[in-house]
Amino acid sequence: MATNTASSRVDDLINREQSAIACPYPIFAELREHDGPIFHEHLGAWLVTKYDDVRMILRDTERFSSRSPTGPQAAGTVLMERFMELSQDPTMAPYLTSITAGRGQAAVLLNADPPDHRRQRKLVNPAFRPDRLRSMEPAISETASRLLDDVVEQIQDSGQVDIVTKFAVGLPMTIIALALGVLGDDLATFKRWSDDIVMPVGNHSPSLDQVRGFIVSSNEFKEYFLGRIALSKREPAENILSDIANAVIDGEELTDDEQLGMLQQFLVAGNETTTKLITNIIHALAADAALQARVRADRTLIEPLVEEMLRIEAPVGGLFRQAKVDVQLGATTVPAGDHLWLLFAAANRDQCKFTEPDAVDIDRSNVKDHLAFGNGEHFCPGAGLARLEACIATGLLLDRLANITVAPDNDFVYEDSFVLRGLKHLNICAVAIIGAAAI
Ligand code: HEM
Repeated sequence: MATNTASSRVDDLINREQSAIACPYPIFAELREHDGPIFHEHLGAWLVTKYDDVRMILRDTERFSSRSPTGPQAAGTVLMERFMELSQDPTMAPYLTSITAGRGQAAVLLNADPPDHRRQRKLVNPAFRPDRLRSMEPAISETASRLLDDVVEQIQDSGQVDIVTKFAVGLPMTIIALALGVLGDDLATFKRWSDDIVMPVGNHSPSLDQVRGFIVSSNEFKEYFLGRIALSKREPAENILSDIANAVIDGEELTDDEQLGMLQQFLVAGNETTTKLITNIIHALAADAALQARVRADRTLIEPLVEEMLRIEAPVGGLFRQAKVDVQLGATTVPAGDHLWLLFAAANRDQCKFTEPDAVDIDRSNVKDHLAFGNGEHFCPGAGLARLEACIATGLLLDRLANITVAPDNDFVYEDSFVLRGLKHLNICAVAIIGAAAI
């Protein structure tokens, strides 16, 4: 039976205490012992931790809604208070007017339900078809190689490098900018927008500055992309931005709001997550010399390694659903209208599904069965792209660096979020492989 202790430790997680974010897995293990989800008052949601329950709910869009995927509205109270505070600041007035005008607030993809959601996915899915992904491979390899040139240079100079800021951030950011057809514009600005806009996900007590950043970046994002949408209508091109700008689905065009919402999700959903996946893979290799030697010698093992890291360190720890009707889960009845936090990170370590769930095992037969990309109708459309980036990044890193280890002077600070989990920095030591040229 899960105890009050587990519940109070979930409080630590929600309050984003580093000790809880760094290793939430013992809390999840304790919660999984309970016959059915338990209700968490502070969060205002049921905690769903068993693999079968999480998967079943993800696949059932009849009984569960995605309209609040980042949690109950009540959790946004501090955010609203900060909005009110900032509304007294005259310099923020133009930004707030635009936000309250609601542009970009439409229910799209992540927070849409059928039938709208199905209509939107029909548009998005072709952008990630295997042939489109194959056509992106050269750009992914070139970008990773270019970033690795700097990594190698720094390793040669000082023997160590922060692989997050020097490598894992830049690759997904560049690739999504390319996919959207906006490469060549300011990547640092896109990164700031992405960080600021994703801030409320997994942060229910943001600071005034964080909310200011959120508002300013949301506005800058909208202004910029409204301009790019207009341009793409006049001059269509082969990219996702153009697909979205010119889409006619079932005879209907997407509204401005839907277009902006989709673009925002592409910019935000694919960045942080893929950065965290790449970081986790490098961390695992650097921490385990035997694993590193095995993967270095047999590159076909990169794919199962990527899957196993998605399982054991899910970058998106969990997202929410709302019950549309009363639902029985184990011994618990979840009443209609209640929210449920589907903990992918907990489900991925359910011993009923994965043997020795806390061990990295790239040979497990069901290595791809994890829920890190969700499941069912909302299954991540960018999964193929994220996997491709992670595989190429890992292969090229191993080509350029030998003896990768975790540097002694790491602080191991995790992102300030209870949903998106990953290290902010990871210093690694390595030896540059002489003669391993960039492609
Ligand atoms: C390791 C990297 C990634 C992880 C762990 C991840 C995780 C997820 C998860 C768990 C969902 C399901 C949400 C739900 O069921 O409510 C999702 C949806 C989504 N992801 Fe990803 N994602 C990643 C990369 C990407 C990339 C690269 C893109 C785009 C370029 C992307 C775009 C999206 C979008 C637009 C959705 C919403 C889909 C829908 O609701 O129909 N993601 N992602």
